[in-house]
Amino acid sequence: LETTYRVPVIWEHFQECTCCSESFIRSDHPIVSDIILNKISLDYTLTLMAASGHQAEKAKHDTMEKYKGEYILCVEGSVPMGADGNYCCIAGRSAKDILLEAAEGAKAIIAWGSCASNGCVQAAYPNPTDATPIHKIIKNKPIIRVPGCPPIGEVMAGIIVHMVTFGRLPELDQMGRPKAFYAKRVHDSCYRRPYYDAGLFAESFDDENAKKGYCLYKVGCRGPMTYNSCGTIRWNNGVSFPIQSGHGCIGCSEDDFWDNGPFYER
Ligand code: SF4
Ligand code: SF4
Ligand code: F3S
Repeated sequence: LETTYRVPVIWEHFQECTCCSESFIRSDHPIVSDIILNKISLDYTLTLMAASGHQAEKAKHDTMEKYKGEYILCVEGSVPMGADGNYCCIAGRSAKDILLEAAEGAKAIIAWGSCASNGCVQAAYPNPTDATPIHKIIKNKPIIRVPGCPPIGEVMAGIIVHMVTFGRLPELDQMGRPKAFYAKRVHDSCYRRPYYDAGLFAESFDDENAKKGYCLYKVGCRGPMTYNSCGTIRWNNGVSFPIQSGHGCIGCSEDDFWDNGPFYER
């Protein structure tokens, strides 16, 4: 383990809830332990590293120095640009400063989740901290946007393994999202789609049509407007996804989804 080269990774946490990390560590194929132990050297992450305090900060700075231009920077969370960045500080420094420093020597940046990709709930109106996604701050590095609140663990793991295996970014769409996972709408792979096409809809969450598994469009499903792999890869090692659990898609991988009208109406 000590002699095999593994791609160094620095994983920053800013304004976020850590569920992107929680999702990642549940990836089953590829299994996350193989990635962390054999494919990458996860040199800094507030969630998973044993070190803390000065020791942790030293590990990060050692990596930035020794592997300048080589390491992958993963960012979980948005960056508050208001109040000169002071809404989110780690080790006495603002998220904005930390991001600018870590981005400088990065080979590429992965913006995990809707927080880092589009601001997510912190950026919802009136966005009191001026929460800003990574691509609006860093302009001189390749950035992969991986939206979703959180993204699917296997999607996150798949992107890392692609970069480590091929030494390059996966193919991205015009919004910077990997085409392999974001080319289709949830609606296009939804198993309830035949009901939609036949005009069979649940009218409320507890009516007979809902019990029959009819389409959830009339109770607010945003699958027709949402690009993600939930219908194919699913969640919890392929067990289920929101629509299979009886709830419409709320469009968690789309820009500004918190502001796109209410999820529920009375
Ligand atoms: Fe949490 Fe969602 Fe942000 Fe990920 S994108 S850190 S799951 S709020
Ligand atoms: Fe489309 Fe949603 Fe109906 Fe599935 S439940 S077919 S995603 S509208
Ligand atoms: Fe999110 Fe919709 Fe998938 S809410 S988890 S994109 S089904």
